Amino acid sequence: MRHTRIVVTHYGGPEALRVADEECPEPRRGEVRVRVLATGVSLPDVMAREGIHPETPQVPFTPGWDLVGVVDRLGEGVSGIEPGDLVAAMPIHGAWAEFVCLPQHEFVPVPSGLDAAEAVSLVLNYITAYQMMHRSAQVKPGQRVLIHGAAGGVGTALLQLGRLAGLETYGTCSERNASAVTELGGIPIDYRSQSFVDEIHRLTGDGVDAVFDPIGGTHMWDSRKALRPGGKVVGYGLITSIRGEGLASGRPGRRQRFRGTAVFGLYIAGGWLLPGRKRVIPYSIQTLKRLKPEMFRQDLITLLDLLQQKKLKPIIAQRFPLAEARQAQELLGRGGVIGKIVLLSNVSPLEIGTAYQRRSAGRD
Ligand SMILES: NC(=O)c1ccc[n+]([C@@H]2O[C@H](COP(=O)([O-])OP(=O)(O)OC[C@H]3O[C@@H](n4cnc5c(N)ncnc54)[C@H](OP(=O)(O)O)[C@@H]3O)[C@@H](O)[C@H]2O)c1
Repeated sequence: MRHTRIVVTHYGGPEALRVADEECPEPRRGEVRVRVLATGVSLPDVMAREGIHPETPQVPFTPGWDLVGVVDRLGEGVSGIEPGDLVAAMPIHGAWAEFVCLPQHEFVPVPSGLDAAEAVSLVLNYITAYQMMHRSAQVKPGQRVLIHGAAGGVGTALLQLGRLAGLETYGTCSERNASAVTELGGIPIDYRSQSFVDEIHRLTGDGVDAVFDPIGGTHMWDSRKALRPGGKVVGYGLITSIRGEGLASGRPGRRQRFRGTAVFGLYIAGGWLLPGRKRVIPYSIQTLKRLKPEMFRQDLITLLDLLQQKKLKPIIAQRFPLAEARQAQELLGRGGVIGKIVLLSNVSPLEIGTAYQRRSAGRD
């Protein structure tokens, strides 16, 4: 049987993405093969294509951090999971394919009846948001937080989780995205025309309890200025680097995985040494998953449960067929996207229905 897989052939711009048609992978001992229903598109994928994300593999590679799919075939020695089960996983790369094989322990069961695109949004974006909010910043109801990139994939997740946690939320965004931030309960701040530090102090007086900063570089220093004494900046990205000089686009690319990360250490140390009891904490979903896989699993189960209870409603910016991954990345790269872009496999609703029915008949 053949399937489609997206391949990054070299580090560079969107032209580096190729659609490959090849034999389906076979699950090895201890592995499970899933038929992917939905897989997310995120800035870390764009950064890996450019060769500048810390998780960038050697080329050629298949991008794709997260997936929701239906169990299709079991490798030798696998038990406790059945063909037809709906599952989610975060392989970090490799999810942009119709069929994916992973070790059994990578999969988390997904309650039946959920929309696959909404469920897949939870894996990278909402776990990142949830863990930063509750495990890194340890927010309490009534506290004030500032969310940078508030209209983006992780940003909208932070706004929704902030509202659930009873926080007062402020969000930087472009002017065109201000209404989306307001609808999610945030107070928008236009990062292009205003100083967010001045705005935060004007609106709050003494500053916020936590800032979530995916921008990186000197921006984190400004984020620190928006804190009240005792507050924390959670630094989790380097959006600045995709506009920087290390990009592979337009010339033979190189892998520069650690470009920009050294500056993080400087800010963390500064946070400890400077007066004001303000801390800068780095967050990395992949590091926490590797160190504490059970916590990752538990947090995803909690979020899937909140989705099933309709307490969360991930914003799907656009759904593309898997083969249009390049157009999806181009759209994300242009900016202005509200929520999450999702790639959908070419699976007919009938096939998905059959999978749900088989699963429901078995265990639900
Ligand atoms: N550490 C981790 O574990 C982890 C996990 C997931 C994601 N991330 C990181 O999180 C970041 C966001 O990822 P994403 O998938 O959510 O991206 P996204 O959907 O493209 O969102 C990025 C947002 O940032 C906004 N933005 C750009 N420059 C800004 C600035 N100077 N000030 C304020 N907002 C600005 C953009 O707004 P406009 O489009 O309106 O300009 C956009 O809404 C990436 O750096 C990614 O690597 C880290």
